[in-house]
Amino acid sequence: MLLQPEPPAAAKRTVEAFERQWRSYGGLKRIFGKEPRAMAANLHGARLSKHIDPAWYRGKRVLDAGCGHGRYLQAFRALGAEVVGLDIGRGPELASPALARALREDPGIAFVQGSVLEPPFRESAFDLVFSDGVIHHTPDAAAAYAALARLVKPGGALYVWVYPQEGALREAVFGLARALTTRLPGIAVRTLAFALAPLTIAVRSYSGTQFGRATWAECAQVVHDWIAPPLQTHHSYDEVCAWGERAGLTEFERLPIATGVTAWRPA
Ligand SMILES: C[S@@+](CC[C@H](N)C(=O)[O-])C[C@H]1O[C@@H](n2cnc3c(N)ncnc32)[C@H](O)[C@@H]1O
Repeated sequence: MLLQPEPPAAAKRTVEAFERQWRSYGGLKRIFGKEPRAMAANLHGARLSKHIDPAWYRGKRVLDAGCGHGRYLQAFRALGAEVVGLDIGRGPELASPALARALREDPGIAFVQGSVLEPPFRESAFDLVFSDGVIHHTPDAAAAYAALARLVKPGGALYVWVYPQEGALREAVFGLARALTTRLPGIAVRTLAFALAPLTIAVRSYSGTQFGRATWAECAQVVHDWIAPPLQTHHSYDEVCAWGERAGLTEFERLPIATGVTAWRPA
């Protein structure tokens, strides 16, 4: 049973949209514009927390909540952490059997299929809960945030990035477009994502993936990510901080990426 009543059709189609994304694009060298080495740079310092440097990770337990095809799991491991990847879909397996095998064979990495709304872990189990671009794809982002916050140990941190609320015009245009694209069958979405890939020149993607500097397929991946999942909500920095305060977290660090917030559980 899930904590929140899920709109079953939209939630199911959201999982399917992501599974299609990892199956189609999971083998690309760069996902969301980044190679594995560049991803590691997101995991400390100004990009994550001023209290977290690479040495911080040694012996720590990390949860990558909504890990997708698992792009960050090996990066956390390389920093010396034990890491658990949680996702509602079968991302790593669909992206690449070789990646899934590599993750399985590393005793410091575990992949668990389940929902961030009802994470199958005991309270206070992790030093860092990291959730990048996930909870706005659930029926209730605030409930997902609260569920993840409960997993953070005293003295530990929760990093969450959600899609930012845009201006009224952009919200209206994208809302209308997505009302159509999220109802298309998988093959049509894939074709449309390829056709629209050059638009990333004019419409900046959050990852900075841009036609001309990234391959056609890399641009199609970020377009697919935007147009396919039916569940997608947008939030403000203040909203994320309010969720954190309600969850008893403190010391909110506003990160360079809009609506990226790291907050700490008092020791
Ligand atoms: C935009 S992708 C981000 C993946 C990964 N965090 C990354 O940065 O590459 C969103 C991911 O959230 C997962 N997701 C959506 N709803 C979820 C839920 N209720 N519980 C766990 N994962 C979920 C999807 O399956 C998808 O892999």
